[in-house]
Amino acid sequence: MTTRDVLAAARLPRHEAERLLMKVTGRSRSEVIIGVPLDDDTAIAYSLLCRRRLTGEPIQYIEGTIPFALCEIAVDNRALIPRPETEYLWELASTLPDEPPALIVDLCTGSGALAIGLASVYRDAEVVASDISEAALSLARDNALANGTTVRFFAGDLFEALPEELVGRVDLLVANPPYVSDSEMAELPSEVADWEPSLALAAGSDGLDVIRRLLARLPDWLSKTGWFFIEVGSAHATEALGLVPPGLQAHVRRDLTGRDRYLVGHRS
Ligand SMILES: C[S@@+](CC[C@H](N)C(=O)[O-])C[C@H]1O[C@@H](n2cnc3c(N)ncnc32)[C@H](O)[C@@H]1O
Repeated sequence: MTTRDVLAAARLPRHEAERLLMKVTGRSRSEVIIGVPLDDDTAIAYSLLCRRRLTGEPIQYIEGTIPFALCEIAVDNRALIPRPETEYLWELASTLPDEPPALIVDLCTGSGALAIGLASVYRDAEVVASDISEAALSLARDNALANGTTVRFFAGDLFEALPEELVGRVDLLVANPPYVSDSEMAELPSEVADWEPSLALAAGSDGLDVIRRLLARLPDWLSKTGWFFIEVGSAHATEALGLVPPGLQAHVRRDLTGRDRYLVGHRS
């Protein structure tokens, strides 16, 4: 039996069948396509991965890791799978116009992707991250270690989780908070709704419950030259901009597909 034979028999979209076969064999895409020998144990392991995918489990959870920024981030059902638009938020925050930040905070860190991605760019910065989910934080801690970065993690509600001594000192604040409204939650594809934590997504009737509270406290925590980059739902970006409190100035940035996606700003 060869990889070519099992690919032909797989009941998954071809690119997914290839990805899972690469995962289980450790071979490159061209090798699995051309066909390399497959022993019985590996063929059974492959059919188990395919079965998981056929139940609707996200392929990233089955593969176990995703590339993000300069890092490899482990993902499982303790946290949201980091999305390409969040990787673009990392890219925007990685090219600040001013001095490199001394203190970076990632609120709602989930798998830790943003905090770890920024720690790998701003090697001299102190990086702090928090999340209300202990389960997500345990994954984030493992990810920080596996990527050779130092991030201090805290559990709790938004800024409440952070040590008081950081008030007024944050040079770069990033956050991808929950921003899915109740009506949008009802429309989510089952691959998201049934597998990823709803705590990572649900944000009340207008999708702004968490962002509203985050923005209200932001002026207290930013340093005099502090910047912020916050991901928002494309349907709520204008309303979110209207919630930016006095003392800060911000604009909406688009993602790579042209959708309004980020609040970017600093002290006025
Ligand atoms: C959209 S996910 C983002 C995860 C990660 N930053 C990313 O971009 O992939 C939102 C995260 O916020 C966390 N969260 C939800 N409500 C929170 C709150 N009130 N305070 C802190 N974290 C919260 C969830 O547990 C989840 O990990």
